[in-house]
Amino acid sequence: MISALVPGSFDPPTKGHIDVIERCAGIFDRVLVAVVRNPSKSPLFTADERMDLLRESCNGWDNVEFGSFDGLLVDYAAAHEINVIVKGLRAMTDFDYEIQMSQMNRHLSGIVTLFVATKPEYGYLSSSLVRQVAGLGGSVDNLVPANVSVALKERFGRDG
Ligand code: PNS
Repeated sequence: MISALVPGSFDPPTKGHIDVIERCAGIFDRVLVAVVRNPSKSPLFTADERMDLLRESCNGWDNVEFGSFDGLLVDYAAAHEINVIVKGLRAMTDFDYEIQMSQMNRHLSGIVTLFVATKPEYGYLSSSLVRQVAGLGGSVDNLVPANVSVALKERFGRDG
């Protein structure tokens, strides 16, 4: 049984994130999606809200679980019998930081990180841009799952 950990800020989850999770669900026996509770900046959605948004977006994938963590990712991975960490890679701009993190995690615990190339149409997509566009009243309907779009409208006071 191979268990994969898909960690992230997911503030909010985008279709790019869901694509990576879906690919993992088709490859690994068990997928644990883990929301970092306290990303460096103060998040738009709480960790529990981000977990709920992810759970709703991945409804029906039986081998996908959700959790949240504080502290070192490798400690969370060890506590949950994880074999590999999986991260999405959009472009070369992601690569520098992602390779640094993967090498630090390997140094800390020996864990393997695998990278999944995101769908080309989501190559420019990021949670921070989604927050910015939604906050300024732009449409992010094709970029995030429907439940996330609703949650963004509510958060920015534009219900309905
Ligand atoms: O969605 P993101 O911002 O790319 O997610 C980054 C995340 C949460 C995976 C990363 O910040 C992380 O692993 N944080 C936990 C702290 C940690 O373990 N740091 C040392 C390893 S680099």
